[in-house]
Parts: sequence; structure tokens; C-alpha cells
Amino acid sequence: MTDKLWGGRFAEDITQEVLDYTLTVDVDERLVFADLWQDLAHMLMLGVRGIVTGEVAQAVLGSLLRLWERAERGELRLRPELEDVHFNLEQQVIEELGRERGGHLQTARSRNDQVSTDTRMYLRRIQLDAVAANLDLIGELLAFPETDLLAILPGYTHSQAAQPISVAFWKSAHASMLLRDVRRLRGAFERTDECPLGACALAGTSFPLDRELTARLLGFGGVLSHALDATSARDYLIESAAAFAIGGNNLSRMAEEIVMWSGHEYRLVEVADAYATGSSIMPQKKNPVVAELARGRAGRTAGTLVQLLTMAKGVTLGYSCDLQEDKPYLWHAIDAYLSTLRIVAGQTRGLRFDGARGEQLCWDNFSTATELANHLVTAHGLPFREAHHVSGALVAALLKRGATLRDTAAAAEILGELGHPVDEPVLARLFAPAAAVSGYTSPGGTSPRSVTAVRAELSSAAEAHAAWLGGARRRLRDAQDATFAAARDVAAGAGIAKALDRIAPSLNGEL
Ligand code: ARG
Repeated sequence: MTDKLWGGRFAEDITQEVLDYTLTVDVDERLVFADLWQDLAHMLMLGVRGIVTGEVAQAVLGSLLRLWERAERGELRLRPELEDVHFNLEQQVIEELGRERGGHLQTARSRNDQVSTDTRMYLRRIQLDAVAANLDLIGELLAFPETDLLAILPGYTHSQAAQPISVAFWKSAHASMLLRDVRRLRGAFERTDECPLGACALAGTSFPLDRELTARLLGFGGVLSHALDATSARDYLIESAAAFAIGGNNLSRMAEEIVMWSGHEYRLVEVADAYATGSSIMPQKKNPVVAELARGRAGRTAGTLVQLLTMAKGVTLGYSCDLQEDKPYLWHAIDAYLSTLRIVAGQTRGLRFDGARGEQLCWDNFSTATELANHLVTAHGLPFREAHHVSGALVAALLKRGATLRDTAAAAEILGELGHPVDEPVLARLFAPAAAVSGYTSPGGTSPRSVTAVRAELSSAAEAHAAWLGGARRRLRDAQDATFAAARDVAAGAGIAKALDRIAPSLNGEL
């Protein structure tokens, strides 16, 4: 027998090398509070079902509450020789109370249901934080001033100037995209929000558990019933990684535009000085490093998704240690994604767009040639395909002369030669980028009117998400408060049934 918590059937202890290779204490640091909250809920349930005596429940709950206080004061160190957070906390309780009483904590529970419960508890909080951070960034993007409605940017397709758009249109496009990230996170939350606790090692147990009660005490939206699935499932976590990866990619696309457009060749935008750094040798440099890193860190979130998919694909149902590899990279992805969301919100607030420069690029790049084609349809009755041809021939002829759409005299002359005369003042109006922007009044288009309408739509979607977020956070807080209130009562000598009755109203709601 060894002195490990599982040491009964072992004659020899593991080597230091094996311990180092298998332990998870560093990674598990993030699970300490989830594990302790879970321990409290589990012990309350064991007590109320008579699986442990009232005296044991009282002692263990008291010990767990003291551990929580130590953890809050930053005084709880996880010992590597105890492998993981679960053994560490159980061992602490046993050291304080002795096996006689402390040895009851792991009744009708396995680290297999325990670890997935902890991970879900931690992850759902992160998902809510990510929703909040997305909503903050969306708020920044939608808080554009009225002047952005007519500040011109070239809109690009194929990386070639295509049609003029407004700065407000660009900002609201990213907000629109991020709202889908919010919906994806909410979807991942929904699947994470199911409680595996009580599945035990894989097959359930002969003890008369109340899985609904523990799920409620832990603030879960429901129970993940099937014990084998509950202990094996990691798709909730892969789905979250996918949401982080897609969100990271979306942020990267925005970052790419900012990096590119802040170069001299574009000069369309400048990041605030606080979001750039200089060069050690080139005094003139102002490098948009935050945007570059927002782009680069998408590698971490994408990499994590691939790592998790690969890690899980060969694991048969039932826990295997491979699954322990589900957390380290996920933590990295979480840190990369949340910090990027937050810093990009700050960067967005300080972006300075140059609408005059945007307008100039639109003129230089024939961005309003479509307007002439449209005019030939509406005013001259040409089929659009024919009108497209005429406008294209005009562009070719102007290019040959080294002219642009600014040269309305040349344009009028060429159109006359092509047999489709248009007056110069009409051309001047058609080709003006700001006029084109104002004219795109279709729903979802770039005109000030359309952008104002879409902003209202996006803002009210964001408000609905914020209301949902408030509700979800409240549920978690209420459940935690209730668990602690009951645990304190029992630790102070109140009967378990009475303590649970007292908190029942705050645990109400559909499960
Ligand atoms: N540290 C483990 C993990 O992170 C906890 C579960 C271990 N279970 C087991 N049977 N070895 O997945």
C-alpha cells in the first residue's frame, strides 16, 4: 500500500518522473473555486439524502468553508505530489478532520464527473465574460459619431477599390459580425450549462443521489443525465474552442484592415499613439502592434481548436487520461481571446479615420463607375448589361488618357463619342463618392439612412443579449450564494433539511 489516496492496491509508488508527467496542479489552479463550490453542493446533497450522517456533513462543510477562505486569501497552495485539484482539496479535508469524517467527501463521486463539472463551471463563466467583452466592443463600434455616416472609405473587393462606403458602414459591419460571435458563445453556453455531477466514474452509482439538487446548487440550467456520456463528453469544450477560434478569426480580419489601412500607401486610418510602438532604429516608425498581435493571436485560438479535436477523436467512451489534455491549451485560447476582445475595444475607441483621403482614393480608383451604369439604365432606358459596357469603355478610355472620373469634360466627350452623351454637371454629381454613398438607400446599404436603421437593429439585438447576460450571471450568483448560505447554516449546527428549505426559493426556476 502507498500513501496515495488511491494507494490501496499499489505496492510501489510512482516515480518523480511519472508524477511530473501526469500531474495537473498548475492547470487546475483555475478550478479551485469551482471544485470547492462543487464539494459543498455534493456534501449538502449527501447529507440530505442520508448518505452521510449529519455530523459528517457538518464537519466536512465547515472544513470546506475554511478552505474557501484560505483560497480567497491566496493561502491555498496545491501540492504537486497530490496530482490534481481534486486530490488536493480532499486531502486537506482529510488532514483536518481525519479519515473518519473527511474520508466521506468522495462518496458517490469520481474525479471523472468531478473534473467535467468543474470545467463546465469555469468555462460557462468565461463564455459569459466573452459575451460581455463582445458586447462592449460592439458598443464601441456602434457609438460612431454622425460625421462617420458621410466619412468616405473605399470599399474593397478582391483587395481592389470597389465602391465607396462610409466609416459608419464599416464599423457597423464589424458589429454585425461580432453579434454572431455572441450568438455562437450563447450556443456553446447552452451546451456547457448541463451538470454531469452524479455520473460518478462512468456507470452511475447505487447510492440514492439527488442529481437535480446538486445541479441547482451549482447554478446549472439542467442535468446531463446519461452517466457514460456525461463523463466522456468533451464536445461542449470543443464547441467553445470553436466559438473562440471563430471569434478570434473575426477580430483578426478587423485587425488586418487596420494594419493595412494605416500604412502610408493607404493612409485611411491611424491608431491612437497608446496602441502603437516605435522602432529601435527607425525614428519615423509608428507600428500598429496591438492590431498585429490581435491578428497573430488568432493562431492560438485556431490552434487550440485543432488540438482539442485531435486529442478527443480517438478516445473511446469513458474517461481516459488523454482527456486531461483538454485544459492547458483551452486556457491559452481563453486568455488570448478575452484579452484581444478587451484591447481591441480600447483601440477602436481611438481610431482616427481620414474621410478626405478615402474620398480621394475613391476618385482615383473609378469607384463610382457603377453610378454611371445605373444612370444609363434609369435615365436612358439601357439594359444594365449594355450600360455596364458603356461605363467600362469610358473607364478604359480615361485610363488611356491618364485621367480619372474627376475629369468630367473628358468623360462627357468620350461618352458622346460612344453614342451615349451625358451632361458634365450630371457626371459630376454621379461620380461624387459622397453622393454615391448617400444614394445606396437599400436596406443594409451604406447610405446614412440605411446605416442608421441597421444601427438601431444591431443595438437592440445587443441590448437583448445584455439582458440575457444579466440573467445568466444572476442565476450563477444566486446559486453560489444559496449554496454557501446553506453550507454555513449546516456547519453552524442547523439541520440540513432546514438549511436547504431556507434557500429553496432562490433555487427556483425551471431545471
Ligand atoms: N486531472 C484529471 C483531468 O484533468 C482529473 C480526472 C482524472 N481522472 C482519472 N481517472 N485519472 O482530467
